[in-house]
Amino acid sequence: MMDLARRVAEAADLVTVALDELLPRADGPESRLTEAMRYAVLGPGKRLRTFFALETGRMFDLDERPVLRAACALECIHAYSLVHDDLPCMDDDDVRRGRPTVHKAYDEATAVLAGDALQTAAFEILAHPDTHPDGSVRSELVARLATASGARGMVGGQMIDILGVREDLGGVARMQRLKTGALIACAFELPLVVARAKEAERHALMAFAHDLGLAYQIVDDLLDAEGDAEAMGKAARKDVEKGKVNFVTLLGVDAARERLGVLAGQTKSHLEPFGAQADFLRASVDFVLERRQ
Ligand code: IPE
Ligand code: IPE
Ligand code: MG
Ligand code: MG
Ligand code: MG
Repeated sequence: MMDLARRVAEAADLVTVALDELLPRADGPESRLTEAMRYAVLGPGKRLRTFFALETGRMFDLDERPVLRAACALECIHAYSLVHDDLPCMDDDDVRRGRPTVHKAYDEATAVLAGDALQTAAFEILAHPDTHPDGSVRSELVARLATASGARGMVGGQMIDILGVREDLGGVARMQRLKTGALIACAFELPLVVARAKEAERHALMAFAHDLGLAYQIVDDLLDAEGDAEAMGKAARKDVEKGKVNFVTLLGVDAARERLGVLAGQTKSHLEPFGAQADFLRASVDFVLERRQ
């Protein structure tokens, strides 16, 4: 676990330095926008999506640069999703990553615009020739991230979440896979594109990624119910208040935790074809399950 924590911290440092270089700076009045973008992305996030991407890159012996740039793009989309998720018209949250949310530190219009510009920054990073010399690889990276982010991924899931429709568990699992699972899965999918991985490997790793993404959101929902707001750097006990439909609000904490245990075993089983090479990914399932922030 210590080694894993060190690898996660190293991944976080790498992506933060890279993002600092890649994100725009401005001198004119639009500097308010670029400052808000930097505030949103460079704050103390866990950077777990980056860790997953870099570990996948290592498993396939990839050069670090394309994978790190893909991770930067993914962190931009993730940060944008959080900025918009926190807005008064969505979850209406005041604290994120232990600091005021972007619309509190700036204002709502700036938060909307910072989210918009982070989204386009992600695709600008992927499309740049420094990401990969082969234009067809770059365009596939763009397409995969776009699908994971949009109506068939994160944004579609956010819509279902906001509607709060009382669905059966299958419907809730689908919502979770879209709103959170799609971007987590992308952390594996983008390196797989760079690796031009074989179909069987792709299939196994994506099955792992989708289960991990679902587990990630169930842990988030358990933390909302039981966690410590200070440790998490965001408000707790919001989901019931906001009428959210998830495994915890539907089933209760104990039954949700039980399902999570079954899901964790299923998640790890997808890594069997990769043997010892996947040890860090295997351990990261427990890391995700045991996280307190
Ligand atoms: C929070 O994501 C929102 C969810 C999708 C559950 P993270 O828990 O990865 O947040 P940061 O990036 O560490 O702040
Ligand atoms: C957010 O889920 C998922 C996103 C796509 C941003 P939550 O609304 O539960 O995330 P937190 O709890 O605010 O981080
Ligand atoms: Mg939300
Ligand atoms: Mg939220
Ligand atoms: Mg939550």
